[in-house]
Amino acid sequence: MFPTGFVWGAATSAYQIEGAVTADGRGTSVWDTFVSRPGSVVGGENADVAIDHYNRYRDDVRLMADLGLTAYRFSVSWPRIQPDGAGEINAKGLDFYKRLVDELLSYGIDPWVTLYHWDLPQALEDAGGWPARDTSKRFADFAAVVHDGLGDRVRNWSTVNEPWCAAFLGYASGEHAPGRREPAAAVRAAHHLNLAHGLAVQAMRAQRADSLIGGCVNLYAITPASDSEADRDAARRIDGLQNRFFLDALLTGAYPEDVLEDLREITDTGFIQDGDLGTIAAPIDMLLINYYSRFTVSGTPGGAQSAAAAPTDSGSPWVGSEHVGFVNGGRPVTAMGWEIDDSGLNELLVRLTREYPPIPLIISENGAAFEDELTADDRVHDPDRLAYIDAHLRTCHAAIEAGIPLQGYFAWSLMDNFEWAWGYDKRFGLVYVDYPTQRRILKDSALWYAETARHGGLLGPAE
Ligand code: FCB
Repeated sequence: MFPTGFVWGAATSAYQIEGAVTADGRGTSVWDTFVSRPGSVVGGENADVAIDHYNRYRDDVRLMADLGLTAYRFSVSWPRIQPDGAGEINAKGLDFYKRLVDELLSYGIDPWVTLYHWDLPQALEDAGGWPARDTSKRFADFAAVVHDGLGDRVRNWSTVNEPWCAAFLGYASGEHAPGRREPAAAVRAAHHLNLAHGLAVQAMRAQRADSLIGGCVNLYAITPASDSEADRDAARRIDGLQNRFFLDALLTGAYPEDVLEDLREITDTGFIQDGDLGTIAAPIDMLLINYYSRFTVSGTPGGAQSAAAAPTDSGSPWVGSEHVGFVNGGRPVTAMGWEIDDSGLNELLVRLTREYPPIPLIISENGAAFEDELTADDRVHDPDRLAYIDAHLRTCHAAIEAGIPLQGYFAWSLMDNFEWAWGYDKRFGLVYVDYPTQRRILKDSALWYAETARHGGLLGPAE
């Protein structure tokens, strides 16, 4: 059994599910612009309709209630609230989230709000985007608007979802919006995303003291391909950019020296101003962790590349460490080509407790894409997803038994949705969405997760 009060949730994000991109005064986000550029999304797909959650949210909340979820993590679309990213508040946009939250609360489902899941207002990108310091301040203003509007009924907040992706996929590799390939700008973006987090925490704290606020990072377990010096250096570099650059800043108020050193050839660090790191490390109530996989890396040229390639033509997100190879670690993979390894999650949880100041932890995303098929019995049999989540939940349980302060788990995702540059090609949902009809069908994994959540514990050995 998991401890009483353990949070059983599922997660989504605004752009991936809402659709209704022009409804009720919503402005344009960088993703709206990006998807219209040929070659940026597999199949030329976009999220104009997505899974129409903006119109179907009541049915979707009922589905969550049927699943016995105690919590739902969703994000707020910035351009719905501030169409141009600053100033004037679009009341209709905020009203949507008020209605959503009230609906959740009416079923006893705890709303967990993420303030930024990558849909930057295009007007702010036009003014420089995340590489511009001002964007951090605009974000803090936006956070204050949403917190002011929903803070009376939402307790759990997180700021920026996966700043690594927003910075390095958005501005270095160009795989994500806004699709820029400017390594130096990406480093500035990473810092400004961290700063945005810190400024938002301050702004929200000033409004009310009872909100629980966290930062959200995507962490990877990282293994060197061999014991060679080059491979160990590759592991240090990737761990530095992916994990420590964000963890150290948020939890210890310093950037790792070795990472700054790796980046020195790319950019100076004049954009890091006095006091920034103090702001970034403003005390938080919890750390939200998104975990999917392990990387095996090599610094030796010519190492075999793993299957987990980018879906579209894009550059390297590994600024200053572009030579590092991602090697096949020999584990089974998901439909994304991501290696399945729950021991990586354990490794990260143990490391967090050993190397960082104590802080409550939440798994805010974990899950897997597989080739799902709606079969003649009108069911989706997805034993691989079920096994994936089961294994990771077992790891969570063991971690809690070992004294790690892990307080909740959110499956990614509640429903199949627009998987960024992969379009609708990759299905992560517990719930299957038949895109032509928008019909929702509970996959086997959803039925099993519902039972697990209701039981509050593991359901016996996995098959
Ligand atoms: C994470 C994102 C989420 C989804 C999953 C598969 O990086 O936060 O939106 O794309 O990966």
